[in-house]
Amino acid sequence: MAGKVAVVTGSNKGIGFATVKLLCKKFNGTIYLTSRDEARGKAAVADLNKLGLKPAYHQLDVIDRSSIERFRDHIKKNHGGIDILINNAAVANSVSLYNSYEECKYIIDINYKSLLTIQELLFPLIRNNGRIVNISSDCGHLSNIRNKYWIERLSRKDFSVKDVNEFVDWYLDSMKKGTFNKDDIADEGTLAAYRVAKVGVSALTILQQKELEGRNISVNSMHPGLVRTDMTVGVGFYDIDEAAETPVYLALEAPQSLKGAYVWYDRQVLDWYDYKADWYFKSSTLQK
Ligand SMILES: NC(=O)c1ccc[n+]([C@@H]2O[C@H](COP(=O)([O-])OP(=O)(O)OC[C@H]3O[C@@H](n4cnc5c(N)ncnc54)[C@H](OP(=O)(O)O)[C@@H]3O)[C@@H](O)[C@H]2O)c1
Repeated sequence: MAGKVAVVTGSNKGIGFATVKLLCKKFNGTIYLTSRDEARGKAAVADLNKLGLKPAYHQLDVIDRSSIERFRDHIKKNHGGIDILINNAAVANSVSLYNSYEECKYIIDINYKSLLTIQELLFPLIRNNGRIVNISSDCGHLSNIRNKYWIERLSRKDFSVKDVNEFVDWYLDSMKKGTFNKDDIADEGTLAAYRVAKVGVSALTILQQKELEGRNISVNSMHPGLVRTDMTVGVGFYDIDEAAETPVYLALEAPQSLKGAYVWYDRQVLDWYDYKADWYFKSSTLQK
């Protein structure tokens, strides 16, 4: 039971994989590489073993409630708790800038709604003084939203999870009904589902911080930069090892007083509520 525990979701490849790799070098404890597909996860562990690094492995599909429950039970039984949780798993469709309703629902289920199930099932295991890092995006800054009603509702410092859920469902509903208005989202409504989901992630982070404040657990969301991974079809100014540095900084080195913040890849803390700022994602940056 003794010893600290770190967990990274969706870590068989990309930024999550590099985050596990860097944690293996810097964190004194057990580091869980997790993946929805066991074969892909174990292949990733084997790659790290070749470098002399020894993460633990467990299957974890963030949209499969029973998978999260199995993981929770495993952690409870073998370690008793979690010290560091990095919610990294996500999907996007960077090839087409506009998605069908089914694609949007899938993106929102994995990128946003999964965090609500993780909050319910895994947060009770987070130890006092622990740290949670939610990997968001520049798509997750409030300036990605142009709809006045939702800017106002999410700008209120006392917004609740009901507000965030209704925001996400408002968007999904507009996709289902075919009434989505591109002007409601920055950059002509491109990658709207991904932006809505990541705005949800960063908004939820603020609420999760309030919930866990009493146990001195920090919860921050961050934008990792434009990183060369499968998600961006190889476009980016950063490689995965460089991109892992800020999540690991937030998990291990940032002052414990940094709480409920929205952090840029260069570690700058930005005002998430500044809806007029120029921090939103521009899809033109995906052109090679
Ligand atoms: N790359 C960028 O420029 C960039 C920019 C801003 C934010 N981000 C964020 O950074 C994080 C990592 O992205 P990345 O670029 O490294 O993407 P990636 O290479 O596509 O990796 C995504 C990871 O998430 C996993 N995943 C997807 N659905 C899952 C599920 N249901 N359960 C568990 N794992 C699941 C994938 O597993 P499979 O192999 O099974 O698909 C994969 O391991 C994401 O949160 C992303 O939104 C990335």
